[in-house]
Amino acid sequence: MDERIIATDEQSADDWQYSLRPRRLAEYIGQDKAKQNLSVFVKAALSRREALDHVLLYGPPGLGKTTLAGIIANELGVNFRPTSGPAIERSGDLAALLTNLQERDVLFIDEIHRLSRQVEEILYSAMEDFALDIIIGKGPSARSIRLDIAPFTLIGATTKAGALSPPLRDRFGVISRLEYYSVDALKEIITRAAQILHIAIDDKGAEEIARRSRGTPRIANRLLKRVRDFAEVEGSTIISEEVAARTLQTLEVDSAGLDHTDRRMLDAMIKKFRGGPVGLETIAASISETRETIEDIYEPYLLQLGFIMRTPRGRVVTEAGYNHMGVTYPGTKTVQQKLFDFED
Ligand code: ADE
Repeated sequence: MDERIIATDEQSADDWQYSLRPRRLAEYIGQDKAKQNLSVFVKAALSRREALDHVLLYGPPGLGKTTLAGIIANELGVNFRPTSGPAIERSGDLAALLTNLQERDVLFIDEIHRLSRQVEEILYSAMEDFALDIIIGKGPSARSIRLDIAPFTLIGATTKAGALSPPLRDRFGVISRLEYYSVDALKEIITRAAQILHIAIDDKGAEEIARRSRGTPRIANRLLKRVRDFAEVEGSTIISEEVAARTLQTLEVDSAGLDHTDRRMLDAMIKKFRGGPVGLETIAASISETRETIEDIYEPYLLQLGFIMRTPRGRVVTEAGYNHMGVTYPGTKTVQQKLFDFED
C-alpha cells in the first residue's frame, strides 16, 4: 500500500527476514510477559499431553505475532498451519483446513478479525467441541451432521482486538497483548540479525538503528539491511553510529524514527493550527492524506511517542512534539488567550 521504509506492513522485500525468525522461545527477545505466560502454558499442555488452549495474540503490526505462533508450534512439537482471515473466503475452506489437522496441531489465523460471519460461526464449535456442524441437503429434508476433528490449538492474531466479535474472543483461553519493543530489546534483535547475516556492527551502530525503528522489529531488520547497503557501497567495514545515522538521515528517517510525512503532519499542526486542538479531517486535508491513513498509520506512533495527544476537541501537539520539531513550545494557553491569538 505504501512504500515507506518505516511502514509496518509486511513488504515483499521482507522475505529475507524469515531466516531471521527465532525458532525457540529462548531465542525470542523481548515481550517478557507474553513469553513467560506462554512458556508455562506450553509446559503444562505438554505434560498433560493435551492440545494447548486457544491463544489470541494482539497488538500493532510488525511485533512478531506470526513468529511467536510458529515458536509455540515448535515448542509443542506439532505442525504449524498458517493462514489468514481474508484467505478463508467460504466455510468450506475452513472445513478443509480443520479436517486436515492432526492431533494437537497449531492452526494460525492472521488478521482473524477479518473472517466473515459464516466462517466465524463454523469456528465456534470447532474451538469448543472439536467438531464441525455441517448442513447436508436443502429445504425441509436438510439435516445437520456433526463431524469430529482432531483436538487442535487455534492461534489467532489481530491488530484490532476491539474488532473481534465477543463470542469469538470469549473462546480463547489465553489472550496476550504484544507491546512495542524497548530500544534495548531492539538493539539485541539487530545485533542477533547482524550476526546471522554476517554484518559487522558495533554497539552504538545497533543503538542508532534501534532508536529509529519505531519499537518494531520488522522495521529494525529492514533498516539494518538498508544501512548495510550504504556501508558496503561506501566501503565501510563496520556499521558504526556515524554510518547508521548518516544513512538514515539520507533515507529521511529522523532520530525518533519519524519520516517525511510524520514530520509534515507535525509541522502543519504547529504552523497552520498553532499546535491544535485540530480535528483529524482538517489535519488530513492540510497534508493531502485521508483521515483513515492518518488515524491508522501516522497517528499511533506519534501518540506512542507522546508527540501528540487526543483531546475531545481534536489533536494537540505536546511540548515533546514541539521540542522534537525544534520549535519553541508556546506553553499552555487559556481559551481566552487562544481567542486573542487570532487577532494578531
Ligand atoms: N526478529 C524479529 N523479532 C524478533 C524477536 N522478538 N526476537 C528475536 N529476533 C527477532
